[in-house]
Amino acid sequence: MSKKIILLVGSPRRQGNTMTVSQWVAEGATAAGADVRLVDVTKLNGIGHGCLSCYRCQKSTEYRCSQKDEVTELLLSLSGYDTICFATPVYFFSFSSQLRSVIDRMLSLIKYNGAGEMQTPLRCSQLALVATAGDTEEQSGVDSMRLSLSHFVDYFHLPAVESLFFGSCDKPADMRANVEARGQSIAFGKKLAMD
Ligand SMILES: Cc1cc2nc3c(=O)[nH]c(=O)nc-3n(C[C@H](O)[C@H](O)[C@H](O)COP(=O)(O)O)c2cc1C
Repeated sequence: MSKKIILLVGSPRRQGNTMTVSQWVAEGATAAGADVRLVDVTKLNGIGHGCLSCYRCQKSTEYRCSQKDEVTELLLSLSGYDTICFATPVYFFSFSSQLRSVIDRMLSLIKYNGAGEMQTPLRCSQLALVATAGDTEEQSGVDSMRLSLSHFVDYFHLPAVESLFFGSCDKPADMRANVEARGQSIAFGKKLAMD
């Protein structure tokens, strides 16, 4: 059975650097036989709300966010994927607010049992990060996202994060014409499909 990969793209620029790279990653993964879904999370109804800290998800027996919107539907689907790939521009040394909103609402995908053990319906065996930034790797702040995701995978008992990063990004048209970046992104997608 082919590997199921979901890319959650959190750039509000429809044809920006992050979407271009994400589409190449999806192209590579698809070519390697994976079943790929790319979601532009910035267009989902409800994305602006973030987690409301209502804790209703923790009082319910379901792994369901209490907000009735497209983000909840997306979260419910995540347990069907082998790989979850977060794709984001670096905004002030971190994730875009839209992607952050999805990540925070993943609280609805955990519960603790009577023995204090964390339970989750997620069955993914791989978590990946795709990021683009205006500054260099050292200056951009991508390291803070990698650190954040390393805590995230520890928490969810997942393997280490795979990441693809492009720094010093400028005009989206330049990225679209960047043959080397395209090759690296397609190779990354293939790796995600085959690992
Ligand atoms: C609000 C905002 C904050 C940003 N913060 C950073 C930053 O902290 N570090 C960095 O290297 N680039 C930063 N950038 C630049 C973007 O990360 C970069 O242009 C990225 O490639 C944009 O991706 P996109 O084309 O998908 O929108 C910022 C851009 C915006 C709009």
